[in-house]
Amino acid sequence: MGLLVWLRLRRPNTWERPTLLDGLLDSPLHWLVARLYAVLLLLRGRPFRPGHGHSSTIKVVCLSDTHGHVVPDVPDGDLLVHCGDLTDAGSAAAIQAQLDWLAALPHRHKVVVAGNHDSWFDPDARRALADAARKADGEVDFKGVVYLENSSVTLEFKGGRKLNVYGSPAVPTCGGSTNAFQYERHLHPWHGRIPPETDVLVTHTPPRYHLDLAGVGCAGLLDEVWRVKPKLHVFGHVHWGRGRQAVYFDECQRAYETLMARQWKGPLRDLLPGPAWADAFSVLWYGVNSVLFKWLMLGPGTNNGGLMVNAAVVRGNTRKLVRRSPAAVVEL
Ligand SMILES: *[C@@H]1O[C@H](CO)[C@@H](O)[C@H](O)[C@H]1NC(C)=O
Repeated sequence: MGLLVWLRLRRPNTWERPTLLDGLLDSPLHWLVARLYAVLLLLRGRPFRPGHGHSSTIKVVCLSDTHGHVVPDVPDGDLLVHCGDLTDAGSAAAIQAQLDWLAALPHRHKVVVAGNHDSWFDPDARRALADAARKADGEVDFKGVVYLENSSVTLEFKGGRKLNVYGSPAVPTCGGSTNAFQYERHLHPWHGRIPPETDVLVTHTPPRYHLDLAGVGCAGLLDEVWRVKPKLHVFGHVHWGRGRQAVYFDECQRAYETLMARQWKGPLRDLLPGPAWADAFSVLWYGVNSVLFKWLMLGPGTNNGGLMVNAAVVRGNTRKLVRRSPAAVVEL
């Protein structure tokens, strides 16, 4: 371990939160623009009005990365979503224990996808688990919980409202062969995969540059999300990315992602004017424009964007539950 890591001035790996020094050494421009972007999104207000154009709202309760925990006091709602990593062990028995808990919750509809830790769902990972002499056999009873694996379901709610939900467990390679549903980043499976009519997208991995510690998420998924533009995209996997972020799929977001995708050799690059400065300026320019246009011309309640939620309920890489309201609640 390096001295700076030992002193907690730098992070030990990309799954931990970057420190201030990490930010400044990697790229002060990235660091600054990420903060600016967050402020601009805040100033734009809520991305959409719940229940807009409908007689009722739909309350979606989001969980991810429970890793065997039973989350206390899950708020009631119309739809419960679990974005994978139900377990640590990945065995049928561990998955069943989580399904038993989810099935007993009062929500009208429940949807789960697997995560890389839920080996039993993936035949290859299940075999690897058995080879590692860790128990993998048995069957799983879903008890009415809808399991999605690169598939969709149309759910009906009160007032006749319907939501198309698409779910997929696929993640960029992150571990050994007992990890389920992994793909090589450059061979990602997303292109053209998600139906365009998807309202709620449930994936285990985040898309790149959104609630993913600025780079652990998948670039291929981000492209696909731009194509589909779901109202709500829920994921987990990167525990420290927990939170929510508005998405508008506009020039400001594009400039932000383009800047974040530029890789540096060090902070000195940032001092020289170049394309990255143009991206940073675009974030500011389009961002300020959209804030002004919204509040001066359109007024409150006029946004028509989407929302991304990283619903991980464990605190960083500790495997302990976050203390305050672990489940994320979204009204659609
Ligand atoms: C879903 O996609 C993942 C990643 O491409 C793949 O490993 C898995 O076999 C797929 N499952 C189905 C049912 O198509």
